[in-house]
Amino acid sequence: MTRHFLDIHRLEGSELRAILDDAHARKAARAGWPKGRADADAPAKDRVLAMIFEKNSTRTRFSFDAAIRQLGGASIIATASDMQLGRGEPVEDTARVLSRMVDAVMIRANRHEDVENFARVSTVPVINGLTDRSHPCQILADLQTIEEHRGPVAGKTIAWVGDGNNVCASFIHAAPKFGFTLNVACPAEYHPDLFDLQKGGAAVHLTGDPREAVAGADVVVTDTWVSMGDQDYEARLEAFDGYGVDDALMGLAAPDAVFLHCLPAHRGEEVTDAVIDGPRSLVWDEAENRIHAQKAVLAWCLRG
Ligand code: CP
Ligand code: NVA
Repeated sequence: MTRHFLDIHRLEGSELRAILDDAHARKAARAGWPKGRADADAPAKDRVLAMIFEKNSTRTRFSFDAAIRQLGGASIIATASDMQLGRGEPVEDTARVLSRMVDAVMIRANRHEDVENFARVSTVPVINGLTDRSHPCQILADLQTIEEHRGPVAGKTIAWVGDGNNVCASFIHAAPKFGFTLNVACPAEYHPDLFDLQKGGAAVHLTGDPREAVAGADVVVTDTWVSMGDQDYEARLEAFDGYGVDDALMGLAAPDAVFLHCLPAHRGEEVTDAVIDGPRSLVWDEAENRIHAQKAVLAWCLRG
C-alpha cells in the first residue's frame, strides 16, 4: 500500500515512534559529515522527489531538498504558479501525471483538501509540507529536538501559547500518539478546531490563560499570530495581546524548560528577542532537525 504522510493522527503510535527513532539514528550516524554526502544505506537511491509549493518556504524547501540528497535521491521543485496547477489544472490530474514521473511528492498547499485529493489518486507517497490545517513534519522535528536535549518526550508537559493554528493542530495530534500532555493557551476566537481537539483527547488541555498553560511545563512553544493566508492582521494583534512569550512567562515554566518556535519568528510579537536568542531557546537545532526528521519520513514512505 502507498504510504502517505498527511497527518500525525493517521499513523499508529508505534510507526511514529519508529520514524522519530530513525531520525535520531540518522542524525547520529552522520555527525561531522559534509552535508551533501549520502547516508550509508542511501534508501532513496535512484528515487526522485517532486516538491510543489503554493506558499512561501525557507526551511521546508531547503530541508526536503537536502534530505532527499542525503538519502541518495534527487529532487524537482516547482511553485504552483509555475505549473498548470496554477492555471486551474485539477490536483487529481496533476497527481496522476506526477505519479508516472516521480517516486514521491511533497506538497505545501493553501487548502488541506487539495493535499487529501492529490493523495487519493496518487500512486506514489504524498507528504504534507504544511496546509492551512496542519504541519506534521514540523512536529516530528520539534519532538526530535526536545528528546535530544531533555530525553523521552513521553510524560513531558508541553505548553503551546498563541494561535490555535496549523502547527498547533499537529502538536495536538501528536500528544496522545507520543504520550505527552499538551496545554494550549489561546484567545477564545482563535481556539483549535473541535476536530483536532477530539484527536488530542484527554492529552490536551485548553485554557485562555498563558500563565496557567506554562506553569511547570517542560517545553514552551509558540508560532506567528498571523499565518500565511490570514487576512485579519490588526484584529489578531489585538486578540493576542498578552500572549507573547517573554522572560516573565518562561519564568513560570520548569527551571530547565526549553523554548521552541517553528520559524519564521516575529520578534516583539509572539516572542521577545531575549527568549528566542536566550539560553533556553532551541530554535536553530529545531530548524536543523527538519532535515533529519524529514529523512525519516521519506525513508518510511519509500519503504512502503
Ligand atoms: N517552519 C517552516 O515550515 O518554515 P518554512 O515556512 O520556511 O518552510
Ligand atoms: N503557522 C505558520 C507556520 C509557518 C511555517 C503559517 O502557516 O504561516
